[in-house]
Order: sequence, then structure tokens, then C-alpha cells
Amino acid sequence: MECRPLTRLIVISNRVQAPTAEQPGAQGGLAVALTAALRETNGIWFGWSGEAGETEAPRFVTYDGVTSATIDLPEQDVEEYYDGYANRTLWPLFHYRLDLTEFERDFQGGYERVNQVFGDVIGPHIRPDDLVWVHDYHLIPLGWLLRRQGLENRIGFFLHIPWPPTKLLTALPHHRRLVDALFAYDVIGFQTREWLETFHDYVIHEMNGEIGADGTITVGSRTIRAIACPIGIDAQDFVVSRDSEEALATHARMVESSIGRSLIVGVDRLDYSKGLEERFSGYQRYLETRPGAHAHVYLLQIAPPSRASVQSYQDIRAQLDALSGRINGAFADIDWVPLRYVNHGYPRAVLAGIYRAARVGLVTPLRDGMNLVAKEYVAAQDPDDPGVLILSRFAGAAAQMDGAVLINPYSADDIADAIERALTMPLEERIARWRPMYENVMREDVTWWRRRFTDVLEQAPAGGRAL
Ligand code: F6P
Repeated sequence: MECRPLTRLIVISNRVQAPTAEQPGAQGGLAVALTAALRETNGIWFGWSGEAGETEAPRFVTYDGVTSATIDLPEQDVEEYYDGYANRTLWPLFHYRLDLTEFERDFQGGYERVNQVFGDVIGPHIRPDDLVWVHDYHLIPLGWLLRRQGLENRIGFFLHIPWPPTKLLTALPHHRRLVDALFAYDVIGFQTREWLETFHDYVIHEMNGEIGADGTITVGSRTIRAIACPIGIDAQDFVVSRDSEEALATHARMVESSIGRSLIVGVDRLDYSKGLEERFSGYQRYLETRPGAHAHVYLLQIAPPSRASVQSYQDIRAQLDALSGRINGAFADIDWVPLRYVNHGYPRAVLAGIYRAARVGLVTPLRDGMNLVAKEYVAAQDPDDPGVLILSRFAGAAAQMDGAVLINPYSADDIADAIERALTMPLEERIARWRPMYENVMREDVTWWRRRFTDVLEQAPAGGRAL
């Protein structure tokens, strides 16, 4: 039987997470899914090294059959492109935080300059029949810049974060320029139907575009496809971690250190979008209104710091330090600490053991493109005695995790009531809620997501891609 030659995949993202000899196991679920495809197709993953320095030709490294190619960026570019436009303009705006959004012309200049650098550096390495997949808000204009070099490849874009409502997006100077650039792609992917529909809204009201019944979007002479395609966890790898010695040992350690108390767990990057202040306030409300629960429960919040050079991240960290101190000061007893707040990360196997020991997974972002902690919590549970997922209705994961107790993360009362409900939920109901979520997490995993997106991209009509 003749095998169809596989189209080479080119992945481009802000940072490269492909494994290297120095960090062979450091990559997350996304990296695992993409590296499998990169390995099968002899593909390349391009991106920023994370280091400041003069930009030179990309450094190609092949490790374990996967090639990565990285560039350094000068300090000023890091400040204006990554800290600036990506993390002080687009991130807060796309997470509905207009109050934290900074509009600086220099940031936009740095963003466009770095996208241009990416295009100039990567373009010459792309062959005519490569499949090109660009990731996330850092690189929205890249497809357009590659087209300007004459590339007629199929180029896809996936947005990992929410797409904001039209009225918010129009607060961004030159918003139309940013969205116009998306029309250089053949396929754009969003995490959920909700973000897809808010994108449609912009297209209709700001671009006078048309949405076809088949998912196509036409603006002027350009027709592209936009799809909702939710990312999943690396289910197979997670199961290996979950069943590992390290996970079992961590589970035993957590059970022992809990001394019969119910563990509630939260695991998040330390980011204002994760709703950590509101979560702590909800837990505080629970403790205030249920004195009988004191000493029978505790919250473990793991929150490794993130983007620490950005002021709003320093602010949220200081606020959480103060709030966690106040909660423990007000409620702790000589032999009970109600809140264990930890500012560093743990390997996946350790997290799996912690999730399994937790009666409740508390995932309460104010906005989140997806949220894979919710899915990992579900995947880690004991089928005979699963815990309860409390999930924000504003996380993309809520569309799939319909067995969760859905809450409004802005409401302390809602969080407090949900904690009580979860801790007193009968076993039968816990199993009935958990099982369909588990099946979904295992079925619609990260490999399913990657195949679904690249299948649509591969089938995008040839021709008609010139701008
Ligand atoms: O999910 C959005 C995202 O920006 C990813 O692109 C990135 O891998 C992750 O959050 C962590 O962000 P950063 O690279 O800024 O630390």
C-alpha cells in the first residue's frame, strides 16, 4: 500500500517548548502534542529563546527527532513586544481587563517590529508545501507578513486566549489593522464557540463581513475559515504521571498531612485573570459563615509567579500575600492553618498526586481561554471516589466540563456555597458528574485537538490565498 507523504509541519509560537538535551522533560501538554507531529513530519518549531540578546540567524537544535529553531531578542524588543504589547496591552484587553490595559505607541511599534523579525528570519526556511501553524496573541500579524514575502502555503492561526467583545476590542488603537491581519490565514481557531461568536460579531459590525453556513468568513475578496476547536490535556502522558510512583507517594504524603481534613486545591499561574483574590475571598466567606467547618478543611493554593516584570503582576502578588496573611491571621488555630499558599510550581506527577487527594478542585478564573487545570483535576480522580470540580462559568473549559459545579467567580457567596455543596455531595452524584467529564477529557485530548485543527487546515482550498 502506498503511503501519502506527510506534509511538513512548521510551528511558530512566542516561546519554543520543544524538548532539548538540557530540559528533556520540561515541556507541557501542548509541546507533547506538537512535537509528536513535528517528529512524524520532520517539522520545525520556531520561536523566541526567552533570552535577551542580538537577533541572529536561528539556532537549530534537533533532539529526540524534533527540531527547534530559536532566536534571541534585544532587551528593548522584549520590553516593548513581550512585556509591553503582548502582556500589558493584548493580554488584559482580551481578558476583559480594560482597567489594566496600557496603550503605548512604543509597545505597538515593538510588536510589529518583532513580528517582522520573526517573518524575516523564518520565511526563508519555509518550503512551498509546508503546513504552517502560528500560535497565540503574540504573533497575530505574522501570517500577513509571511504572505507579503509571497508565501502561498496553507497557514493557520490558533488563539489560546479569549476573543474579546467588539466594544472592548474597539478601545484598542488600530484594532482594525490587527484583525485585518488575521485574514491572511487560511484557518483561524478559537477555544470555544463563545470566542468564535464574538469574533463573528466583530467581523459583521466592524468589517461588514459575512459568515457562511459552512464556517467560512468573507471580508472583501478574502474568504477564510474560523473554527472552535478546544484544546485538551495530553491524556496518555497524564495517565502515566498519575499512576507513577511519584504521584502515589505524593498522594500518600497529602493524605497523611491532611490528618482527616478535606483538601480543596487550586493550581494557577499567578495571574490576575485567574481570579485568585476573588477565590480567597470566597473561601474567607465560607469560613466566616460555616464556623463548624473550621479545622475540618483547608485550601492549598499553588501559584507560581509569572511575568514578574509587569507591574500588574507585582500588584496581584502583593495583594495575595496580604489577603492570605489576613485569612490565616483571622482563622488559624494552634493546630490548623486554613490556607496553605505556595509560590512555586511542581512537576506534573506531583500535581497529579495532589489533585487525587483533593476533595475539591477550585478553578475560578474571571476569564480563561480554556483552563487545563480543570481537565487535569478530572483526569487525576479515583473513579470509585472522585472529588468535585468547582469551575468558573467564564472559563472556556466550562463548555465541556458540564459535570462541574459552575459558579460566578465574582461572587464570594457563590464560591462559599459551592464549596459547601461539593464537600457534602453524595458519592453517587459525584460519580455521575465526574464520569462524563472524564470521558470527554480522555477523548478530546491534545492530540485530538491538534489533528482536528491540522485536518481543517490541510483541507483549506488551495489558491485564492494571495492578498
Ligand atoms: O495560554 C496563554 C499563554 O500566553 C501561552 O501562550 C503561554 O505558553 C502561557 O500563557 C504562559 O505565558 P508566558 O509565556 O508569558 O509565561
